[in-house]
Amino acid sequence: MINIYSPGRIIKTTFLVFLLMNLSSCNRDRNNPGWDYFPDMFYSTAYETYSKNPNFENGMTMRVPVPGTVPRDFTPFEYTNDPESRIKAGKELVNPFSETSETLLRGKAVYTTFCIGCHGIEGKGDGHLFASGLYPLKPLSLSGDTAAKLKDGEIFHTITLGIRSMGAHGSQIRRDDRWKLVLYIRKLQEEVKKPVGTQNKK
Ligand code: HEC
Repeated sequence: MINIYSPGRIIKTTFLVFLLMNLSSCNRDRNNPGWDYFPDMFYSTAYETYSKNPNFENGMTMRVPVPGTVPRDFTPFEYTNDPESRIKAGKELVNPFSETSETLLRGKAVYTTFCIGCHGIEGKGDGHLFASGLYPLKPLSLSGDTAAKLKDGEIFHTITLGIRSMGAHGSQIRRDDRWKLVLYIRKLQEEVKKPVGTQNKK
């Protein structure tokens, strides 16, 4: 008579049961997770951002922002690329920064990155791109009399939206940096007025 309760038999039977359980729990279909353990942790009872929502008329969970909504810390720029708008910007916009070594240094860095290629080291409109013939249109002088008469807001408008054949830089240069750039252009204009030899070429 076989003793079904012998320790060896119990171990073997347990092993066999576990083996069968393991094998039968395997699933070849990789797209099916099988049974869920704690399904409410997998499937949210709350509406997901992009899920359908029967509670709203348009069936979307995510709401459309109220018209006129702007992102945090974003100041809208409500001007258009035309001469009248530029004059308007000149009257309304005020440079929030004043001339310090820090703001000028930043302005210079931005100028060197984005403007020097066309407008040149001293802002005379003789940058490498134009001087070498790679860029056919003569950039206007930033240190000449015409540009010196421009208001801060007009220069800011020009940098942001571009002017005639010059492209817009509003998407590439942050607002604060555009204002610091205006300060640096003012500096270039001052330098030009100084008698030759006393100019600070830094
Ligand atoms: C690809 C060359 C190019 C680059 C880069 C460029 N500009 Fe210009 N810029 C021009 C040209 C060309 C004009 C003249 C546009 C016209 O009159 O059609 C001009 C005009 C201007 C004017 C108008 C001056 C006036 O008397 O009304 C200002 C201000 C100015 N640029 C500033 C800048 C600043 C600041 C930067 C750097 C962010 C810059 N530009 C980058 C080519 C360039």
